[in-house]
Amino acid sequence: MPRTASEPPVTGPFRRAFGRAVPAEGEGGTFTQSWYPICMSSAATPDFVRGFDFLDGRVIVFRDKEGQAHVMSAYCPHLGADLSIGDMIDGQVRCIYHHWKYDAAGRCSGMPSTDPIPSAARLFKFPVCEKYGIVWAYNGTEPHYVLPDFDFPDEELVFKTKIFGEEVPVDPWVLCANTPDMQHIRYLHGIEINGDNPHDTVEWTDHSMFYQFAGTHVTGDPVRHRVGIVGTSMYFQSTDFAGRWFGFVSPFSLTRPGRSTVYITVCARKDMGTPEEVDQFLEEIAELETRVVLDDLMNMQTIHLKPGTLTRSDLTLSRFFDYMRAFPRAHPSAEFIS
Ligand code: FES
Ligand SMILES: [Fe+2]
Repeated sequence: MPRTASEPPVTGPFRRAFGRAVPAEGEGGTFTQSWYPICMSSAATPDFVRGFDFLDGRVIVFRDKEGQAHVMSAYCPHLGADLSIGDMIDGQVRCIYHHWKYDAAGRCSGMPSTDPIPSAARLFKFPVCEKYGIVWAYNGTEPHYVLPDFDFPDEELVFKTKIFGEEVPVDPWVLCANTPDMQHIRYLHGIEINGDNPHDTVEWTDHSMFYQFAGTHVTGDPVRHRVGIVGTSMYFQSTDFAGRWFGFVSPFSLTRPGRSTVYITVCARKDMGTPEEVDQFLEEIAELETRVVLDDLMNMQTIHLKPGTLTRSDLTLSRFFDYMRAFPRAHPSAEFIS
């Protein structure tokens, strides 16, 4: 039976009830200190330097001669030329304007004139990792967590990664807030969860939250999920789908305040079949998860998410708002990237 409010309706004046706000990305000049996807691994090459928007500024991505990907501030410390239109020369970035060169540590390594190289002639070098076919940069100087592995070593998995559509007009954490919102799994996605919402089983750390549930997908297939949020920028899922395992992550970039790009990565075990069978399975899973992401985006492209009138069923979501309020925020690259 639907629940009804126990009090008679109030006739006014009407005021909307809000909880404590979660600071928006960029508010007060800072951003949450997470790992953020910058580009596909395939976009980082030793032949070209490429530019991407990040944290309301601009960064370059290139690969050195050893194959290591780098993410650094894009603006040349000399006069501010955008290094993404420069050249790669022997594994170093050369500015198009006066040919100052920058090495893999972000230091100016040479210039055509005989002037001494100023010590301030250096780029901001972000901590970088490559995972799930994506180049990631950390907003800070010392990462306080690492991106998680699946239940199997990466060498035993096949990954398929893509960027999903256009930028969406919300912060990455807003997209993350879907996961602790257990109710939407039933109502928005139509996935049946066996038993009550598993609020009691959520595992929290200062940089992640995970929980498990079993149920029935809209396809009618039995599913067993372990799902979670890592940092403020990634959805993580490990699933047994009708007896077959797959992994799924959806990272969210932070190009500027209130803007994000959605990535989709699916993976499966190499030994689950022939390469053709694995590929076919990944296609099916990517399609399945894309439909779920589309459901979410339909809502998330228009939501003005604020902690409002919460109920007992919002227990984990409410705790997620606390997690977000407590998340470290900083912007050490600010002077370099804008
Ligand atoms: S602006 Fe880059 S070398 Fe002068
Ligand atoms: Fe969702």
